[in-house]
Amino acid sequence: KRPVILDCDPGQDDALMLFLALNAPELDVLGVVAAGGNVPLTRTEINCRILVEMAGRKDVPVYAGCMGPLVEPLFTAEYVHGETGIDGIEFFEPSLPKQDQHGVDFIIDRLRAAVDESVEMVITGPMTNLAMALKKAPDIAGKIKQIAIMGGASFEAGNVTPSAEFNIYVDPHAADIVMKCGRPIAMFGLDVTHKVMTSPEIVGRLNALGSRVARSCAGMLDFFGQYDAAKYSAEGGPLHDPCTVAWMLKPDLFKLKPCHIAIETQSELTRGHTAVDFWGVTGKPANAQWAYDVNRDQFFDFLIERIGNY
Ligand code: BDR
Ligand code: CA
Repeated sequence: KRPVILDCDPGQDDALMLFLALNAPELDVLGVVAAGGNVPLTRTEINCRILVEMAGRKDVPVYAGCMGPLVEPLFTAEYVHGETGIDGIEFFEPSLPKQDQHGVDFIIDRLRAAVDESVEMVITGPMTNLAMALKKAPDIAGKIKQIAIMGGASFEAGNVTPSAEFNIYVDPHAADIVMKCGRPIAMFGLDVTHKVMTSPEIVGRLNALGSRVARSCAGMLDFFGQYDAAKYSAEGGPLHDPCTVAWMLKPDLFKLKPCHIAIETQSELTRGHTAVDFWGVTGKPANAQWAYDVNRDQFFDFLIERIGNY
């Protein structure tokens, strides 16, 4: 099984990423680390425990990571995700405890204990936790096999400012550190996540699966879709975060291109912009693979098939 650490800020779409990873027979989920992002850490951490418990994976430890970005104050998105971040599910008090160890120290210890180039990372929130871990312990980079990230926008316009996608905008300094870490990176930005729009048909198929996880997915996508449907004049909303894990499990769904990707940290106007050198005009060597296309129907068939296993 492939060892993986999941770092996220649930978020309805983070929740689907977690569900996809937590029942994947291919993956050995070493731990889930919460970040402050869509909603504050006090909430994302509880959300992670609810979702891991719902997935029947109380064996997977959940950690709280960083409360907010390295430099900037935390900017949250209750206006998209609702007060809880995962509005649309039936809430319960999780019995799964939060681990005492800080999420950043967990990442450091777990990577240090691993063999070289063995652990995969999935990051679907601001990249604060891994950036902090790399700052504290630069030696861990060599343990990472690859990093699958949801973040950025290139051909597609930003979703929080004209230039920037939310996860990178919130902590551009962290994104800058991670993008320069020298390990293989696959990045799923709005160019591709805006091609996986949900619809009432998708929500209906999830609901019809009948399990608590599946009905929660349907409820969350229904909620999430309302905000985005209005915004994008579509039938639903973009299902950003599960693109990362779907690619890990079924890479053929996506098209990626090696590119040099730089993060804007200085400008007020374009803070968090991802300068994706899609046409190689800078001549700089690629530091990541940029996802630019996806087979939408096959993506949703795969997602629904996997959620159907709950
Ligand atoms: C990203 O920001 C959050 O709103 C979502 O969970 C996703 O990770 C999309 O810009
Ligand atoms: Ca997210």
